[in-house]
Amino acid sequence: MTTPTHKPLVFSGMQPNGNLHLGNYLGALKNWVKMQQDMNCIYCVVDMHALTTWVDPKELTQSIREVTAAYIAAGVDPAKTILFNQSQVHEHAELAWIFNCVARMGWLNRMTQFKEKAGKNRENSSVGLFVYPDLMAADILAYKATHVPVGEDQKQHLELARDIAQKFNNDYNVPDYFPLPDPVITGPATRVMSLRDGSKKMSKSDESDYSRINLTDDADAIVQKIRKARTDPNPLPDSEKGFEGRPEAENLINIYAALADGTREQAIARFAGRQFSGFKNELAELTVSKISPITSEMRRLLGDPAEIDRILKAGAHKARAICAPIVAEVKRMTGLVG
Ligand code: AMP
Ligand code: TRP
Repeated sequence: MTTPTHKPLVFSGMQPNGNLHLGNYLGALKNWVKMQQDMNCIYCVVDMHALTTWVDPKELTQSIREVTAAYIAAGVDPAKTILFNQSQVHEHAELAWIFNCVARMGWLNRMTQFKEKAGKNRENSSVGLFVYPDLMAADILAYKATHVPVGEDQKQHLELARDIAQKFNNDYNVPDYFPLPDPVITGPATRVMSLRDGSKKMSKSDESDYSRINLTDDADAIVQKIRKARTDPNPLPDSEKGFEGRPEAENLINIYAALADGTREQAIARFAGRQFSGFKNELAELTVSKISPITSEMRRLLGDPAEIDRILKAGAHKARAICAPIVAEVKRMTGLVG
C-alpha cells in the first residue's frame, strides 16, 4: 500500500485510438466517475501513447475529441476534475525520458501487452511501443498520484510503475519521493470479453465489430450484437461453480452485474436456470438504457469541437500547475539542473 505521507490523488488515462467500447466503460470509465465523488482526480487522453502504433493524423485529432467527449458524456465533470490531453503537457515526455533511463530492458521485456501487440513483428514495432509503460509511469508519477483505476489488463504496467518509482527513490536517495501507486481494479467487469469468443478480451482492434459494443453504437446495433453474442446450449447456472468452462455465460453475467450496479451474486441469483434468450433480452434492454444516453450526449458534445478543445486547454493548464514543480524538482535531483 501507498505510504500515508502522500495525499490521495487519482490519475488515469485512455488512448485515443478508435472507438471506446463497453470494456473501456465498465473496466475503467465507470469507476473513474465514481471516484470523482470523493477524491481529487486527473483524467488524461493519452494521445502520445496512441502514436506507438500507426495512426492517421486526421483520425488522431478526431479521436482525441471523441475520447474527451466520451469521458464527459459518461460523467467526468471538467469543473471538478482535471481533464486534458497528454501532449499538451510536455512534462510527461520529459519525465518519461528520465524513466527510460531508470527502467531496465529486462523489466520491459516481460510486458505481456508488448508481446501481444508486437506479435511476430517485434523487430518492426516502434521503439515507442516497447517503452510505452515508462511513459505511463511518467503520466502517473508526474503528479505523485496514488490511485490508478484501470481494467485488469493494466495490472502489469502498474507494477512496473511501482518498480520505477522505487528504483528512482533508491537511486537518487530520496526515500518516499514518489509514491508507489496502487491499481484500483474493481467491479464485476474488470475484464470484459469479446462477444464472439469468451477467451479473448473485448478490444478496439478486433476485426469483428460484433465482438464489441462501441459507445457510438445505436440501440439497434446493441440489440443485434447481444442477440448474436456467442453462448452455449444450457440454461444459466445457479452458482459460481456452474460457470466453469462457460466463459461466454460468465462474461454476459458480469456485464449485466456491472451495468445494473449490482454484484455478480445478485445477477447469478436473478437469472439462475433461465434460458439465454430471455436473459439476452433483459441484458440488451439494460445495455441500451445505460449506453444510449452516453452516446447521445457524446454526439451533442462533438457538435461543438471548439468547446472540447477549450476544455482540454483549460485542463492542461491546471495539470501543468501540479506537475511542473514536481518535474522541475526531479531535474534538480538528477543533476540536470543545478
Ligand atoms: P485502452 O483502450 O487500452 O487505452 O484502455 C483504456 C482502459 O480501459 C484501461 O484502463 C483498460 O484496462 C480498460 N480496458 C480496455 N479493454 C478492457 C476490457 N476488455 N475489459 C475491461 N477493461 C478494459
Ligand atoms: N496503458 C493504458 C491503457 O492502454 C493507458 C494509460 C496511459 C494509462 N497512461 C496511463 C492508464 C496512466 C492509467 C494511468 O489502457
